[in-house]
Amino acid sequence: MHLFLVGPPGIGKSTLAPVLARHFGAAVIELDREIERRAGKSCKDVIERDGMDRFRDLESSALMRLQATPAWTIVDTGGGTPIRDTNRKRMRQLGLIVGLRGSVDRVTAGIAATMTKRPQQEVAPRDRARSVLRERRAAYADADVTFDVGSASVNEVARAIAAWLVSARGVRIDIAGADRSCRVLIRAGLLDHVGPHLVDLGWRGRVALVTDARGSARYAADVMRSLERAGLDAVGLRVPAGEAAKRLRVAARLWDDLAASGIGRDGGVIALGGGSVGDVSGFVAATYLRGVRIAQIPTTLLGMADAAIGGKTAIDIAAGKNLVGAFHPPDAVFADLAVLSTLPERQVSSGLAEVVKSAFLADRESVAQLGRGLEGVRNGDLGALLAAVTIAAEVKGSIVSRDPREAGLRELLNFGHTMGHAYEAASGYRATHGEAVAIGMVYATALAERLELASPALRPQLETLLARAALPTRARLPRAVWGYVLRDKKARAGKLRWILPRRIGRFSEVTDVAESALRAAAQTVESAA
Ligand SMILES: NC(=O)c1ccc[n+]([C@@H]2O[C@H](COP(=O)([O-])OP(=O)(O)OC[C@H]3O[C@@H](n4cnc5c(N)ncnc54)[C@H](O)[C@@H]3O)[C@@H](O)[C@H]2O)c1
Ligand SMILES: [Zn+2]
Repeated sequence: MHLFLVGPPGIGKSTLAPVLARHFGAAVIELDREIERRAGKSCKDVIERDGMDRFRDLESSALMRLQATPAWTIVDTGGGTPIRDTNRKRMRQLGLIVGLRGSVDRVTAGIAATMTKRPQQEVAPRDRARSVLRERRAAYADADVTFDVGSASVNEVARAIAAWLVSARGVRIDIAGADRSCRVLIRAGLLDHVGPHLVDLGWRGRVALVTDARGSARYAADVMRSLERAGLDAVGLRVPAGEAAKRLRVAARLWDDLAASGIGRDGGVIALGGGSVGDVSGFVAATYLRGVRIAQIPTTLLGMADAAIGGKTAIDIAAGKNLVGAFHPPDAVFADLAVLSTLPERQVSSGLAEVVKSAFLADRESVAQLGRGLEGVRNGDLGALLAAVTIAAEVKGSIVSRDPREAGLRELLNFGHTMGHAYEAASGYRATHGEAVAIGMVYATALAERLELASPALRPQLETLLARAALPTRARLPRAVWGYVLRDKKARAGKLRWILPRRIGRFSEVTDVAESALRAAAQTVESAA
């Protein structure tokens, strides 16, 4: 996600960019510096020696070279960048255009203060300010949002933009599906808007709101109100908190409750809670009346980053976790960041494991972004949370869009999960899912190192991030782990598959790994445990 700061010269884009970036843990790109790097001389020199057209061409190609990434980047553009239609189109492809506006006086003062870095001009700053504002009016007006800098300080403008993004605009990701697409919305304060969104998606009549008895129940009233205001007739249903929700007994009761409440094909089921509530509600919605619609309102970081997205639903049986289920993609996912304020720290860390996984699957920018934003996430800063959830949702969304039924590509999301699932089970589920996945990712990376797929420099990068997320990087692997690993192999046509990193953003599926390598990787995970 790129945020392009656009506006007249001297309005303060360059001072604002790093201050705004801190709200999200984002990186900053100065478009002028990119041009200078390519040209091998200053922008001023380019304009004076090669002419304005050449400068504009270099500017456009610098925009074209920016790579799409789930990581957040604030781009400090030049005053003339939005003049070309193609540039505005490119900026929209990569993210949002945030306009800055100010009075003639303000722009005049800004131009006067930065005269030395600008090309020689015959015109006085005030005349230049007037002509720029007049000639580029339409280009500057074509922004996704515009902030008047007025007499506000840089900090105030940055806060206003961050608040707009976090609480008003948010992020929307559309995931393609076999029948229909899934709308993923991420921002603070979404609970109040669930009703209108569902009506917009064609939901009518009666709906069931499923919550757990503890964590998510406190948010049910807000959602109920929003549903009722939108004309949806909602019944509230409760399931036990945590994994205890994912039992056949609980599913059977939900089927009965749906029937008793008269939920039909026009309505649907709304899951409000962590991955446990989401999984059992999704499974019940997939099977009741051979399938009614489901919407997910994840209330844990793990739910927002992973479980609510992608349409996998399941319950547990005696033989193991998640062994009975269905693919049943939600119509919509509403990730309201504000509900994370009550989430226990250990659960935040658990969700962060999936965010770390996504960043490693994505690219170096996303890993760097997470490195900068991690403390913010743990402190509950909404900007850092928005960026972190967006990275995970974008990575999962783009993979799931291309492989909705786990035919191949989706295997990538199992980075850290072969050993992670085994360790989770062998620990008797005392480790959270995220803690187990953290151990699983360290194991997979150690294995990749041993097989000479990854350089030894990769694992410390992963371990540093995990440790900062208060996740384990070392553990004793109980003997029982190997039994579970072998069971995973049986479930996958006799092949033990490992998703192993080669480097950040590049992974391979590896089968038939020698037992000596498996043991050596285990030694690494157990070293100094
Ligand atoms: N379907 C998928 O693709 C998928 C992916 C990953 C995980 N999962 C499943 O998700 C489940 C784990 O989900 P989880 O980690 O979200 O845990 P969870 O749903 O079990 O919730 C953990 C605890 O947090 C509480 N809680 C939830 N939201 C809260 C809030 N906002 N404030 C305070 N407390 C809150 C809950 O009451 C519960 O006690 C597992 O069953 C796992 O198999 C599914
Ligand atoms: Zn997982």
